[in-house]
Amino acid sequence: MSGAAPATQARRETWSSSTGFILAAVGSAVGLGNIWRFPGVAYESGGGAFLVPYLVALLTAGIPILFLDYAIGHRYRGAAPLAYRRMARPAEALGWFQIVLSFVIAVYYAAVIAWSLSYFVFAFDLRWGDDPAGFFTGEYLRVGAPEVSTTIVPAVAIPLVLVWVVVMAIIALGVTRGVQRVNVLFIPLLVLAFVALVARAVTLPGAADGLNALFTPDWGALADPAVWIAAYSQIFFSLSIAFGIMVTYASYQRRKANMTSAGLVVAFANSSFEILAGIGVFATLGFLAHQQATGIDQLEGLSGPILSFVTFPAVISEMPGGALFGAVFFGALVLAGFTSIISILLGVAASVQEKFGLAQRTSAIVVGLVCAVISLALFSTTSGLIALDTVDQWANNVGIVVSAIVMTVLVVWVFRTAPVLRAHLNRVSTFQVGRYWYALIGVLAPVLLGYMLYERVRTLLTEGYEGYPGWYLTVFGWGAIALVVGGALVLTLLPWRRGEDEDFRPWPELEEERR
Ligand code: PFF
Repeated sequence: MSGAAPATQARRETWSSSTGFILAAVGSAVGLGNIWRFPGVAYESGGGAFLVPYLVALLTAGIPILFLDYAIGHRYRGAAPLAYRRMARPAEALGWFQIVLSFVIAVYYAAVIAWSLSYFVFAFDLRWGDDPAGFFTGEYLRVGAPEVSTTIVPAVAIPLVLVWVVVMAIIALGVTRGVQRVNVLFIPLLVLAFVALVARAVTLPGAADGLNALFTPDWGALADPAVWIAAYSQIFFSLSIAFGIMVTYASYQRRKANMTSAGLVVAFANSSFEILAGIGVFATLGFLAHQQATGIDQLEGLSGPILSFVTFPAVISEMPGGALFGAVFFGALVLAGFTSIISILLGVAASVQEKFGLAQRTSAIVVGLVCAVISLALFSTTSGLIALDTVDQWANNVGIVVSAIVMTVLVVWVFRTAPVLRAHLNRVSTFQVGRYWYALIGVLAPVLLGYMLYERVRTLLTEGYEGYPGWYLTVFGWGAIALVVGGALVLTLLPWRRGEDEDFRPWPELEEERR
């Protein structure tokens, strides 16, 4: 190991230990995606057979791109736009693309946390009554047609304001005192809550039928490109990769830090949570089918928001001790969601802070306020649920796929920094990345993702989505993508406020590796 950091570089705040970093990274990864998204996606996409594309996606793209995110952030020590710019100037635009995309996700993700917070309270007296579906879309969300509604629903707006205030406060406290502390506290709590839920779920009558439904493979599904797209986008969303967020988290890691081993721990922990959530959710659904004396395949509402906010409440009402189970379930959703949304807001706030030379606190407050206002305006109205569903579909099936393709192609083929990044990782880590990594991120990932993107865009253009009107999809779906591209361009073109220390020198310098 040679030399210390060049004296010209300002000190950067760091996680106080590798455990701090790992807990924070697990906190970002484990979120609503694991509990609210994975079980339904797996069930709809071939059940047990889904594990095949899921594992393939994890090994061929998930972990390799997680390493790529870590390498860029750790080597170039900046939030995404600055780190990419230091790697190669024009790449700053990609950093902003990822950050604006994260921002889009944050504004609707917060709404789901707000619903979970409300349902945590509702669980105590099973407020949804006998008709959880009518309660969720009617009494609670007051869902209307796909339109641009300006009627605010106070029952959503109030917890949503609370979510933003807390998130803003945590980011304003900084990386170590804010983000790391929250994760150190919340992640163990989340693990406990989760284990308790799953243990209860698998002992319910009918649980085995639920697990059979989830794990019985429908091998035919493997021939369907949509299933593979679902697996890859689930992995990206779930591991928080290619969003610029892991770049930012890694930039706060100490210089001598075992990056790849931490990455393996994070990826393994995330998938374990995901599969555990699948088991918990389906065991519970098995119980519901048992109570209603039908088969799982006869149940409706096994995916997306409906699974957590309609089907689950129905089960909770039928279960002995349901109120407690419900409170723990929605409490776990809140904890998991919080530790993920703070990672997004940190990524956005740190990017703005670096570019415009703001104080950390100022940037946390400005960015938090902008997010909160947009989040309230779009997602606490009577058209919130439909807007959320549409934006989520485009952000996760189009936006993130574009981001990953552009990222891997730029690094490997355009700026050719992959060897430097691999050498960097291997220099600081114990788990060594072999040359196969170039093939994975340079060829396999972009080719597969390119094909998937083509398929997805074609389907969205020809078949639309969920039968929503075309103009609506243009505004909220394609509009979200246009916003990300436009926002990225504008932010890239704006001048750097304090000059981004032109003399930055990455560490270690890797002279030996170049020989
Ligand atoms: N990984 C989070 C989840 O599974 O819910 C969601 C997420 C967090 C996505 C951070 C993107 C991100 F940058």
